[in-house]
Amino acid sequence: MNRVYLDHAATTKPDQRVLEAMLAVYKEDWGNPSSIYLEGQQARRWIDQSRDRCAALLEVESDELLFTSGGTESDNAAIRGVAFAQRELGLGTHIVTSQIEHHAVLHAVEQLEKEGFEATYLPVDEQGIIQMDTLADSIREDTILLSLMLANNEVGSLQPVQNAAEVAREKNPHIVIHSDAVQGVGAVDIRPSVLNVDLLTLAGHKFYGPKGIGLLYIRQGTPWEPFVLGGGQEKERRGGTENVAGIVGFAVAFDLALREVEKKNTEIQKLRNRLLYEIPELVPDTVITGPVDPALRLPNNFSCCFRNVEGESVLLSLDMIEVAASSGSACTTGALEPSHVLTAMGVDNDLAHSSLRLTLGNETTNDEIEYILEKLPSIIERLRALAPDLS
Ligand SMILES: Cc1ncc(COP(=O)(O)O)c(C=O)c1O
Repeated sequence: MNRVYLDHAATTKPDQRVLEAMLAVYKEDWGNPSSIYLEGQQARRWIDQSRDRCAALLEVESDELLFTSGGTESDNAAIRGVAFAQRELGLGTHIVTSQIEHHAVLHAVEQLEKEGFEATYLPVDEQGIIQMDTLADSIREDTILLSLMLANNEVGSLQPVQNAAEVAREKNPHIVIHSDAVQGVGAVDIRPSVLNVDLLTLAGHKFYGPKGIGLLYIRQGTPWEPFVLGGGQEKERRGGTENVAGIVGFAVAFDLALREVEKKNTEIQKLRNRLLYEIPELVPDTVITGPVDPALRLPNNFSCCFRNVEGESVLLSLDMIEVAASSGSACTTGALEPSHVLTAMGVDNDLAHSSLRLTLGNETTNDEIEYILEKLPSIIERLRALAPDLS
């Protein structure tokens, strides 16, 4: 068996068309886009064209888009940028987000708490979805920002961002709404006008584009301060010489992701549903994490926990049979911390340590899914036989 890559939520293999477009820029138009001579202007043209292309796909103005170094920077820039600008306007210091955000959001908000801001972390239900009444209760007169992810990277749950934005604005018209839509591209409608958000985060490497390039949409008129200071690039909104090839690669990948969306999702969802429905039948004591209703879940995400098994051992065993997979746990300072997402969903610590995430992609085949369904039951059985009973 060739390698079976089932970790598309972590990153994706760049599309050949993306690589070709990027290579052409590196070879031919490597000038500094801030230079006034020909080489610089050629590079500048690539950036302008790519920005226009992304703007057309998102149905926004080109001026509302900022290229960054990825999802983490876009999240940080969105949150810090709005927080300081809103505080400057005297509108307050309270931020609302959810307990299951990516650390790029959570750590940015936690840092702001150390800098004099206040935060509320919304709980989620057992499916990993926020409740509208809890959200409404959390919005105060001094709430300046709601940051709510569109799709969770671990369990695939989809948040009702559009509805949440409406509820939040009704309680406080000055609130700014940001959504981390990194995992949603190609799966969910991410147009800011549809989601009803003021800021939107995207990252190129999650949809067959390059790493180290992200996009931040900032709706015109949104209070926001620059985060990365330096040269006057990106109209004084982000210092630093632009990643021209990365920007070009981002735009090509984004275009492909949005154009090929429907066909891809139907096929991927069909394969994913096999995992969702067949693994619990094949492996005793499987607990599906995240929504079972496909309408509430990313089409490519499967996640579960196996009682009495160590998640890391499952990953290593899968790697040995040529399968790349992931767990929800993050290894920090040598100790395995249970995933904050699973903990927020009410999954107990022992169970959370046995999590497995399989995320499918454009190149995933039925044979690969068959292979998983054939091999996984004996892997879990063997590991359970070796492990002490944790229940
Ligand atoms: C939901 C979410 N937000 C943000 C990020 C960070 O993106 P990047 O790796 O481009 O910094 C990720 C990456 O896994 C993600 O899944």
